Amino acid sequence: MQTLFHDEVVPVPRVPHSGPARADLQRRFAQRLQVNPQLSRKLVSYQGNKEAVGFRWLKYKEGFSTALVRQFIERGQGTQVLDPFSGAGTTALTAMGMGIPATGIEILPLGTLAAQTVAYAANGLPLSAFRTAAHALLHAIAEGSDDGQYALAHVPITQGAFPVDTDREIARARQFIATLTDPALGTALNLACLSVLEEVSYTRKDGQFLRWDSRSGRTVSTKLNKGPLPSFATALARRLQQMMQDFPLLEAHYAGPLPTFITGSSLTELQKLATGQFDCVVTSPPYANRYDYTRTYALELVYMGYDDAQIKALRQALLSATVENRCKRTLLHAAWEDVPALERVFGMVDQQAALQEVLAILRDRAAELSNRNVITLLENYFTEMAVIVYELGRVVRSGGRVFMVNDNVRYHGEEVPVDLILSDFAEQCGFHCAAIWMLKRGKGNSSQQMGRFGRREIRKCVYEWVKVDE
Ligand SMILES: C[S@@+](CC[C@H](N)C(=O)[O-])C[C@H]1O[C@@H](n2cnc3c(N)ncnc32)[C@H](O)[C@@H]1O
Repeated sequence: MQTLFHDEVVPVPRVPHSGPARADLQRRFAQRLQVNPQLSRKLVSYQGNKEAVGFRWLKYKEGFSTALVRQFIERGQGTQVLDPFSGAGTTALTAMGMGIPATGIEILPLGTLAAQTVAYAANGLPLSAFRTAAHALLHAIAEGSDDGQYALAHVPITQGAFPVDTDREIARARQFIATLTDPALGTALNLACLSVLEEVSYTRKDGQFLRWDSRSGRTVSTKLNKGPLPSFATALARRLQQMMQDFPLLEAHYAGPLPTFITGSSLTELQKLATGQFDCVVTSPPYANRYDYTRTYALELVYMGYDDAQIKALRQALLSATVENRCKRTLLHAAWEDVPALERVFGMVDQQAALQEVLAILRDRAAELSNRNVITLLENYFTEMAVIVYELGRVVRSGGRVFMVNDNVRYHGEEVPVDLILSDFAEQCGFHCAAIWMLKRGKGNSSQQMGRFGRREIRKCVYEWVKVDE
């Protein structure tokens, strides 16, 4: 396979921006903004992990592929790897397989559960113990008795997601797993259960929201018929079988130093990491595209015991990327030791000319926006990403590299050059932006936007930043 980093790059066609500040910014980065023909959608998305041992257990569609991560770690000659938006742990687990210590920070507990399961399976969780526990779990579900204590406590957005019998089977599974004393086995079996919830439900994860089958009893506007649903035990048995097949392969190819997985927000957790601790960051933050992880993963969160208030709190704690997120500047103030540094970071956002240009246009046209909160979304997104970039500038040592996968966005016809704005922040935080690699084909606009503003693709990119100062 040709690697991502060879000489054949295609210069970017000049796409005029609609405002002078964005045009200036694009001119500044013009030489570094390059189409990389080797960067495929498959590589930068979960598609590349679909069949990969271990990674295929939880369909974490927001992830990128282990093949991509491997190339970045090799290029960065990483010896201490970090992913502050670790998802299902692709970066940390790939590093583990390369014998490299890694740290992953992730706010969604289900991502960490999946990553930890793979790490345990690769590093000696005995297949025989897993097999015995798996059989006992299926037996407990088939036995059919539970005391009701472990029934899922549904929240409004998950009510009616399962047929009644499926809810009962899930309760029995949770009750059985609660009796296990070995935490690694409990983690692995919980992951198995959680990974089949979508399949056995009347829902489908579809872009921004869950789509609902009319059999759920909900009033639904879109027609979705998932056909016959497997029972929970049937789907679970298939997943357990697949996991057992993967165990030996994982041990052969991924055994390595157990990564450190931190469940929490990078906005506060990065502060606890030592200065200059890492030489390679491979990450993909949430995109500024209104995607709500807490809605997509509501079933899994309820399985893990989250109630409505906790889900709403989690939604606010996530890096702001939805119209519902509230400004975190005050919270960050309270959580920050070096307040003057934080003020400088906020200043960097408030003075970023291209960003302020977009915001001013959107504020001017607020009455025409389908949702005015896209303005606060962008303000919050860049404020929080500026904090992250600043912290990366601290925890990455001189000569270390950051590889970041992200998409640009467009609101009301105005392109937001996320790649250029974040790279500008990076250059103010001790990095040199070496390249912004674009995929050959970007992302088309929605049909609604296309009708009003014409067809214009927005860039899907990978940025490479090199730490220059000490
Ligand atoms: C694009 S996904 C990354 C997926 C990952 N690269 C993988 O391969 O699985 C972005 C992740 O950031 C997480 N996230 C959002 N806000 C966060 C925060 N404040 N701190 C840590 N993780 C956060 C989301 O839950 C999501 O899993």
